[in-house]
Amino acid sequence: MNDSLHVDLDRLHSIKGMKWSKYEKEILPAFVADMDFEPPNSSYEALKEMVDLKDFGYKFDHVDRLIPAWTNWIFSRDGLELPEAHCTIFTSSIHALEAVMVLHTQPNDGVALFSPVYHPFAKAVQSAGRKLIDIPLLEEGWTIDIERFNELAKSEIKVVLFCQPHNPTGHLFSEDEVAEFSEIIIKHNLLVISDEIWADLIFDGKPHRSLAAHGQEVRERIVTVGSASKTFNLAGARCSVAHIGEESIRQKLSALPEHYFGQPSSFGAAATVAAWESGKPWLRNTLKQLHENRDFLTKSFAGTNIKMDSPQATYLAWLNFSNTNISEAPSKVILEKGRVALEPGSKFGPQSHSYARLNFATSPELLESIVERILEVVD
Ligand SMILES: Cc1ncc(COP(=O)(O)O)c(C=O)c1O
Repeated sequence: MNDSLHVDLDRLHSIKGMKWSKYEKEILPAFVADMDFEPPNSSYEALKEMVDLKDFGYKFDHVDRLIPAWTNWIFSRDGLELPEAHCTIFTSSIHALEAVMVLHTQPNDGVALFSPVYHPFAKAVQSAGRKLIDIPLLEEGWTIDIERFNELAKSEIKVVLFCQPHNPTGHLFSEDEVAEFSEIIIKHNLLVISDEIWADLIFDGKPHRSLAAHGQEVRERIVTVGSASKTFNLAGARCSVAHIGEESIRQKLSALPEHYFGQPSSFGAAATVAAWESGKPWLRNTLKQLHENRDFLTKSFAGTNIKMDSPQATYLAWLNFSNTNISEAPSKVILEKGRVALEPGSKFGPQSHSYARLNFATSPELLESIVERILEVVD
């Protein structure tokens, strides 16, 4: 088997993952962020070897290889050297985010985010009893409201949850914007949890520059979270690695009992390590297909009442239905009348009810059907 991309509708209808099993067969699912492509062959082979050997006993070598596999991956992608001794394994990106946030704050401390943003961020802050400080992105270009951020950073904010590239808009914050953002971080001594799990999926040949690459003073205040879950379609692996730039958090983490956080399973670690070590050709093919899909979507919605800023990264399109006949609850109407499942915009921020998020990581044929069905219900 080679690493050509494969979307097999029969396979998708028979697998048990939530994307294809939540709704009945007539619905085309474009909601949760899983791809319809089969994951890299290297991950499949690593798992198959364990299954064929019925090798289900204690086995930690893949777990031990997670950190070096990730730091090598980051180095070869970004040229950024992250010391292995400053990295910690978690069982998901949100696990990393919540653990670090709780260790660094007290109840009612302010934790900022920039909505619309991946919805578990807000839930993480609220369920930990921290104060949610939402600084909505400016709709024109999805840029940070730097003035407001600077104002609130003076006294209200202790931790910032950052997402670059950005889910759901697919936006990349520019170098100038990140420079201004970083100045505020340093000036007010804030901690940033930088979720960069979309960093491998950037279009038009643009490089990724981790927040931690913006100098030593910034890096010391950044926790960089990485995972193979989005890049290689391995969300079920439940593995994440974080580089902890802030020394006091490293100390707090190492003072905890060894098994306090648990560990990923040897299955998840094997699939993840194999992807980081040998998944580059698969990723090249995938990016090419995603790029074509992105361009197809942009063209399809141009000239309609649906507004879409062509995403610079991710496989997510953030669709604005406010000028359409279904502005009140677009995803609900599209599900009922169009038989396409999108992620409701309201999940990502209180001001986003006229939006919906579309996952375009699928075959050109399925994407064409998704677009046709949406356009049939929208005026
Ligand atoms: C920005 C962001 N962070 C975290 C996650 C969850 O990742 P994981 O399953 O690795 O925890 C997602 C999933 O879509 C995401 O978009």
